[in-house]
Amino acid sequence: MAGSPAQFRGQARLPRSAAPLHYGLRLRPDLAACTFSGAAAVDVAVRAPTRFLVLNAAELDVDRASIRFRDSVPSEVVQFEEDEILVIGFDRELPAGEGVLTMEFTGTLNDQMRGFYRSPRNMVVTQFEAADARRCFPCWDEPAFKAKFKITLEVPSDLVALSSMPVVKETLSGSIKTVYYEESPLMSTYLVAIVVGTKVRVYTQIGKTNQGKFALDVAVKSLDLYKDYFATPYRLPKLDMIAIPDFATGAMENYGLVTYRDTALLYDELLSSASNKQQVAITVAHELAHQWFGNLVTMEWWTHLWLNEGFASWVSYLAVDSLFPEWNNWTQFLDETTSGLTLDALAESHSIEVEVNHASEIDAIFDSISYDKGASVIRMLQSYLGAERFQKALASYINKYAYSNAKTEDLWAVLEEESGKPVKDLMTTWTKQQGYPVNYAKLNGHELELEQEQFLSDGSSGPGMWIVRITSCFGSYNEQKKVLLKDKTDKIHIKEFTASQSSDGEKSQNIWIKLNIDQTGFYRVKYDDELAAGLLNAIKAKKLSLMDKIGIVEDSYALSVARKQTLTSLLRLLNAYRDESDYTVLSHVTSVCLSISKSADATPQFNRDIKQLLINLLLPAAISGHDALLKIYREAAEPQEKSLVLGSLSSSPDKDIVLEALNFILTDEVRNQDSYYILGGISLEGREVAWAWLKVASITPKNWDHVLKTWTTSELISDFIDSIISPFTSEEKAFEVSEFFADHINPSFERVLKQSLERVRISARWIETIRSESPSLGHAVQELLQNQA
Ligand code: BES
Ligand code: ZN
Repeated sequence: MAGSPAQFRGQARLPRSAAPLHYGLRLRPDLAACTFSGAAAVDVAVRAPTRFLVLNAAELDVDRASIRFRDSVPSEVVQFEEDEILVIGFDRELPAGEGVLTMEFTGTLNDQMRGFYRSPRNMVVTQFEAADARRCFPCWDEPAFKAKFKITLEVPSDLVALSSMPVVKETLSGSIKTVYYEESPLMSTYLVAIVVGTKVRVYTQIGKTNQGKFALDVAVKSLDLYKDYFATPYRLPKLDMIAIPDFATGAMENYGLVTYRDTALLYDELLSSASNKQQVAITVAHELAHQWFGNLVTMEWWTHLWLNEGFASWVSYLAVDSLFPEWNNWTQFLDETTSGLTLDALAESHSIEVEVNHASEIDAIFDSISYDKGASVIRMLQSYLGAERFQKALASYINKYAYSNAKTEDLWAVLEEESGKPVKDLMTTWTKQQGYPVNYAKLNGHELELEQEQFLSDGSSGPGMWIVRITSCFGSYNEQKKVLLKDKTDKIHIKEFTASQSSDGEKSQNIWIKLNIDQTGFYRVKYDDELAAGLLNAIKAKKLSLMDKIGIVEDSYALSVARKQTLTSLLRLLNAYRDESDYTVLSHVTSVCLSISKSADATPQFNRDIKQLLINLLLPAAISGHDALLKIYREAAEPQEKSLVLGSLSSSPDKDIVLEALNFILTDEVRNQDSYYILGGISLEGREVAWAWLKVASITPKNWDHVLKTWTTSELISDFIDSIISPFTSEEKAFEVSEFFADHINPSFERVLKQSLERVRISARWIETIRSESPSLGHAVQELLQNQA
């Protein structure tokens, strides 16, 4: 007999010889015992004759004796836990054609916030993205295997049970009710959802119903907006949104039943902050965008995850901007672009389209590259093609691939056809290679000379080459020129501008030229000294847009870290932002100041002066005492407030408080989902103690097992590594860390560990360079301080 079940091990994807058409699913959770049982009847189409049906299952007990296909009993059933597959073998080859596969199974309602899990307050919830539907029922758990779902739940009669589709009927038998749901349209397994919980508390917790109003309002308006934007209505008969007490990410776009962490859904007019309000709006708009981009049209494989996430992120800003134009939402979008540019300047970054070989690799790509770089390159493309043309093409893409799957190049093909522009060639340089360029700009007579080079934070230059759409303006936003930079170098002829500026009798210093207008391009610009001086004057003279002011300070900071520009010139530039009053611009200036002050141990002798300089620049509010903080934490009713307190705790300069905060993570008082607030806040003074804590945790089997078990299953594990290791700034430390992890490595944090070590080495080199700059730096700082006085 040809072949054995083991031949299916070690494969990235399931064989295509059979595919599901329809799942009849019956699930019965037992909340008291923390278990569930289920039965599935799957209509399967055998596409090519085969002896095996191969599907996914993990941490499930599949009852072998219950399995039938076309009423025949399999000759062998093997479950490979490592590969998360179930192989059902038959004596004789199964001919092509349809048949029903039935099976019964049981599993545990876990506390790991994935698969089918329990959450406080007598609630059980599913979270299936990326590859965890297989933990709830055996299935073809890949986005391209779309099927229809008909779900039936058996639950205690006093609980409310929700799923993607509306209820068709309910029957009662003793204390158990059986709830039947309508059949769904074609959809991927990762979008199936079930929530079972206590009545009246279902949609929000008691006393919080008012707090759902804002999200509901945004949802209703966004659905309307997307209906027009994508030229097709929302396809399901209902849409529920629900806050879940324990939730691994911010929100999940399950088809028809969107789940949220409480802070991302609930907003209280009185108690919540303005930034909470915006976060709620962005999150709702993001998840609802997925109902089209992701749910109706789904990525063919996780390599194209960025199509889902990058696009939903970008379009959420579009929707929120149209609902709340007064928020200047696109300026805030540059926070996303900045994160993308920062991560993608590491040699250990990855391309937007990334190979995925095992389910365990998928979680790691829900990162700033897929989301922020993804969203940013979409914004870049929209600005190149024009808003109207872009929308028309997107609508035809959505309609063309509705209920089906698409790859990145399918989107390019539609956009290219609609616009007649070289979309595929251009975009491929951005999505299939990691990194991005820095474009050097130099004024040479009547020509602006351009040269591109891959930008890396460590100061080296990579081999990358991009098709870069360079936009530029000359002394005014009305005078623009645009070119496609396809080779390493190019020139823009600017005679008309240089001529008019000098005829006005202005010195060349007063000419300002800004490239990458409003930062729509995903690249950095390094200006020659003359152009940089012109821009500094333009900032002081308030000639530049908010977005351009942010772009200049971010580029300048990154170039300084990469040692392509002196810290002295960065400090001079920062000083030009002294009169800035815009919150978003200031938040970028502040974060640059903070990073500089953290590197100030490079120059002990000027340390104080530099800090004073930055303080004068920012006049930050003082922070209050910390015992008081724990009390606030315990008494705070609002999750948003609690999270703020957690961050402040670990940002104390007092090592003992930092340690206390870290230990606090391991207690029941901090929810697993909230650990990153503490980790993200660790102070400079707390670095060593945090590292010592992580080491102890990782060699004390109990602690590390706990950390691994609790956080590996979500991408939260990366915070433990990144937040604790990245703040270090010496080669020795990088060495020590890598030595330590040599025998503690785990695939779930391998990449983030490499990225963190790379960051440490980049900081170390930057600090070396600042040290060598110190004589002239000290001089410049004194001079700037005098200017400020
Ligand atoms: N699909 C994701 C949720 C997700 C993330 C599932 C990682 C599995 C692994 C969802 O659409 C999402 O992107 N949520 C964001 C919020 C959004 C406003 C960026 C999140 O959870 O942070
Ligand atoms: Zn998303």
